[in-house]
Amino acid sequence: MPDKLIIFDTTLRDGEQSPGASMTRDEKLRIARQLERLKVDVIEAGFAASSNGDFEAVQLIANSIKDATICSLSRANDRDISRAAEALKGANRARIHTFIATSALHMEKKLRMTPDQVFEQAKQSVRFARNLVDDIEFSPEDGYRSDVDFLCRVIEAVINEGATTINVPDTVGYAIPELYGNFIRTLRERVPNSDKAIWSVHCHNDLGMAVANSLAGVKIGGARQVECTINGLGERAGNCSLEEVVMAVKTRKDYFGLELGIDTHHILAASRMVSQTTGFVVQPNKAVVGANAFAHASGIHQDGVLKARDTYEIMRAEDVGWTANKIVLGKLSGRNAFKQRLQELGVQMESEIDINAAFARFKELADRKSEIFDEDILALVSDESVSHIKEQYGFVSLSQHSETGERPMANIVFTVDGKEVKAESEGNGPVDASLKAIESHVKSGAEMVLYSVNAISGSTESQGEVTVRLQNSGRVVNGVGSDPDIVVASAKAYLSALNKLHSNADRVAAQG
Ligand code: KIV
Ligand code: ZN
Repeated sequence: MPDKLIIFDTTLRDGEQSPGASMTRDEKLRIARQLERLKVDVIEAGFAASSNGDFEAVQLIANSIKDATICSLSRANDRDISRAAEALKGANRARIHTFIATSALHMEKKLRMTPDQVFEQAKQSVRFARNLVDDIEFSPEDGYRSDVDFLCRVIEAVINEGATTINVPDTVGYAIPELYGNFIRTLRERVPNSDKAIWSVHCHNDLGMAVANSLAGVKIGGARQVECTINGLGERAGNCSLEEVVMAVKTRKDYFGLELGIDTHHILAASRMVSQTTGFVVQPNKAVVGANAFAHASGIHQDGVLKARDTYEIMRAEDVGWTANKIVLGKLSGRNAFKQRLQELGVQMESEIDINAAFARFKELADRKSEIFDEDILALVSDESVSHIKEQYGFVSLSQHSETGERPMANIVFTVDGKEVKAESEGNGPVDASLKAIESHVKSGAEMVLYSVNAISGSTESQGEVTVRLQNSGRVVNGVGSDPDIVVASAKAYLSALNKLHSNADRVAAQG
C-alpha cells in the first residue's frame, strides 16, 4: 500500500465560518462538485445540526457527490450526531466528525465542564455515533493548547469507542511548526492504541503558519490526513490552504515521500470559484493561485525561464490549471473551442443548455473585448445567469452621466420577475447613483457591508469583477458581477446579491 496523504477539505464548513463568506445551498453544491473533480478524499459539507439550511446543504451534497467521503461536523451530543447521520443518509461514504474542547481554558470558561465530564461526553458521543456510521472522526477542540496527559486519556478512550480518525486542531493558530510536529508525534507515541486510527492535522493561520504547521504534523508527527480549505478560507486568518499543502507535498515528494489522490489541474478553477462565490479576493502574490504566482517580471528571470523553465519555476503552471498561452479565445472562436476550453479549465457544466447559455455570454463579451482570457471564462461560467439560481431581478441596460463638478446621474433598466422596470437616481459617483437607482425601486433596506472591484485580467481592457455583500435581518449574501464596464458590473453584482437575499436558498448559518 503506498503511503497516502488524505486530503480533507473543509471549505464548506470551516471556510464558510469566515465572516461574510456565507454560501447558498446551490453554491455549496457547485463547490462540492469542483472538489469532487479535484478528487479530494473527504468533503466536510457543513454542520448539519447548526441550521435547516446547513442540514439541507449537507443532505444535497451527500445525495449528489459520489466519489468523495462526505462528512458533517457535529458537537459531541446525541442530537447533533443524529442530525448529522440523518443528513448523510444518501452518501456513498459518510463520516461524522464530532468535537469537544479539551483545553483547560475552553473547558472551564466556555463549556463550564470539568475534565471528567468532557472525558465522559467525548466517549459517549463517539459510542453513539459509531452505532450510526462506521467512519468517525473525533477532534479535541483547542487540542494543541490542551494538557497532553488529559488529551492522551481522551484520545485513547475515543479510539476504544471506535473513532477511526483523530484530528488534532490548532484551533487558534498558536502552534510553531517544529513544536506542533513534535506534539503530534508525542501523542502518537503515548496513546497506546494510536495505530488503530488515522491521525489528522487541522491548523488555523493566525500567525501565518497553518501550512507549515500542517506539513510538520505530517513529516514530524506522522499525520496522514490534512484538513484544509481552498484559498485558505476560514475563520479569522483562515485555515491551511489546500493548494499550498498539496503542491508542497507533490513538488517535494523527494522529502515527504507521500502519494496524493488530488488531480491538481482543477486547483485554479476551484480557487476562482471559491473566490467569486464568497467575494474573498485572492491576493496577486498568493502561492500557486495568485495572478503573479507564475509571472516573471524581472529581465533576468524572464531570460532564465525562456532558456530553461526550471531556472526559476519549481512547478508547472499547467499542472495547477494555468495555461501556457493565456490568450485563449476571441470572437471568431466557435462553440466547440469554447467547450473544449471549459474542459481544459476543469469546468464541467451540467447540461448542454448551460453550455449554450455560457457560450452566448462569451459571444457577447467577445464582441466588446478582443482577447478573452481564462479568467474571463471562469468569471463568465460562475455568473449566476448560467447557474440554477432562480432570478427575481435581472440586468437589462444602464446609462449614466458623470462629469467633473457635476453630480453623477444613472438610469437603469432591470427586470423584476420578468417585467422591465426603469429607475433613476443621482449619487456620489456613477456606481453609487446606479445602485441607488436600483434601491429606489426595490427598497430592500439591506445594508452594504462590502463593495470591492477587481480586474479579472491585467489591462484596462480587462473585465471588472465586482463583489457586493449585503446584510439584511441577520442574513449575509454575496453578489458578484463582471463586465468590461465596472458600473455595469456593480449593478449586476447588486442585483445578484438581491436575488440571493430574496431567494429561498437559505443562507447557511455558520458554526456558533
Ligand atoms: O478549529 C477547530 O478546532 C475546528 C474543530 C471543530 C475541528 O474547526
Ligand atoms: Zn477550525
